[in-house]
Amino acid sequence: MQELTHPISASTRTDLEAFWMPFTANRQFKANPRIFVSAKDMHYTTDDGRQVLDGTAGLWCVNAGHCRPQIVEAIQKQVATLDYAPAFQMGHPGAFELADRLVKLLPGFDHVFFTNSGSEAVDSAMKIAIAYHRACGQGMRQRFIGRERGYHGVGFGGISVGGIGSNRKFFGSLLTGVDHLPHTHNLEHNAFSRGQPEWGAPLADELERIVALHDASNIAAVIVEPVAGSTGVLIPPKGYLERLRKICDKYGILLIFDEVITGFGRLGASFAAEYFGVMPDLITVAKGITNGTVPMGAVFARQGIYEAFMQGAENAIELFHGYTYSGHPVACAAGLATLDVYQQEGLFQRARDLSEYWENAVHSLKGLPHVIDTRSLGLVAGIELESISGKPTARAFECFLRCYQRGLLIRTTGDIIALSPPLMLEKHHIDQMFGLLADVLRDLP
Ligand SMILES: Cc1ncc(COP(=O)(O)O)c(C=O)c1O
Repeated sequence: MQELTHPISASTRTDLEAFWMPFTANRQFKANPRIFVSAKDMHYTTDDGRQVLDGTAGLWCVNAGHCRPQIVEAIQKQVATLDYAPAFQMGHPGAFELADRLVKLLPGFDHVFFTNSGSEAVDSAMKIAIAYHRACGQGMRQRFIGRERGYHGVGFGGISVGGIGSNRKFFGSLLTGVDHLPHTHNLEHNAFSRGQPEWGAPLADELERIVALHDASNIAAVIVEPVAGSTGVLIPPKGYLERLRKICDKYGILLIFDEVITGFGRLGASFAAEYFGVMPDLITVAKGITNGTVPMGAVFARQGIYEAFMQGAENAIELFHGYTYSGHPVACAAGLATLDVYQQEGLFQRARDLSEYWENAVHSLKGLPHVIDTRSLGLVAGIELESISGKPTARAFECFLRCYQRGLLIRTTGDIIALSPPLMLEKHHIDQMFGLLADVLRDLP
């Protein structure tokens, strides 16, 4: 076990109050905290010295595993060499190199705009979409179409196109001009499907109805997660994404894939776009871009989008948008080292090779108490539990607590367990993960 430099012991836990924790039941947590103090490869270490197997790659982001020396050293070296360089009207080598390396991952995409998070990537992509149409002489195209149960981060753009009631209802009138496609999750037709479910492609045709309502000339873009992660691993029905692409093409609407979770190997390909063979116009990424080490997000633009902006006087700024930390040198160094690790260790291929073993393990939970669906793709899995009557989320949360106590980190959303381990995992980790989960499920009230 690694030595703990500043362990938070039970005696110092009264100091937890000042931190207003995100997406957390603060009072419940602070009454009974769960604290990680270090991590290595597939495991976290808790403040009481226990090892916890990481079934969620942190928060879907540590795709190469924790504290990888190559990435740590690159970050340390960069921060000691060039800690910061202005992002506007100045450059540094790392940002250009990283953008160049990133576009090489996906043929057809040729420019990258850097942000600091997935939320910022989504809002940036939405602004790029509107500004692109304007640059093409179609400034009326300002509306967006998202999807029920979509998660696109927490900016006002993202929650407006997103489809999670509780993320929207406290925050006023949001962006105007947004419609939502129906989500594709349907247990009646698709429970316990292996891979992509058979039923549901015609749900994409709802886009035709929305286009008829507003006219295509007013619509900028459709944004979807190719596989919805945060609302419980919702896998697109066969043919669904292809149909969305076709309808967008028919009406000149941009298609944005939010690949904040599916990017960087999660499905066993660089991106879901490659995995499904469906090319969007813009792709948003974050998380795995730096292996979760330094905050960073990005928007990938397909060929032709950047060029549409490159008109007018050469000394004119083409896109009035950006962040102080766009392309931050330390994030770029982390991104470059992360890509090296992915490539040197063939981690995307590894995810593909392990996905069958993973799928069998996921589906082995069928028949256990409370399990009403199991689904997986690549190295991601959703295990849906029957809710306790009148107490939605309680059963899955109890499962989360028990797994944590027994040494496994899972994530729950509603009554769905979501798993997305680091891609470096071995078969014995999969056995351990599902063995432990099965035991916990058997005992769960
Ligand atoms: C699909 C998707 N988009 C956007 C985001 C937001 O990313 P961030 O939390 O880095 O802002 C997330 C985060 O989980 C996500 O899953």
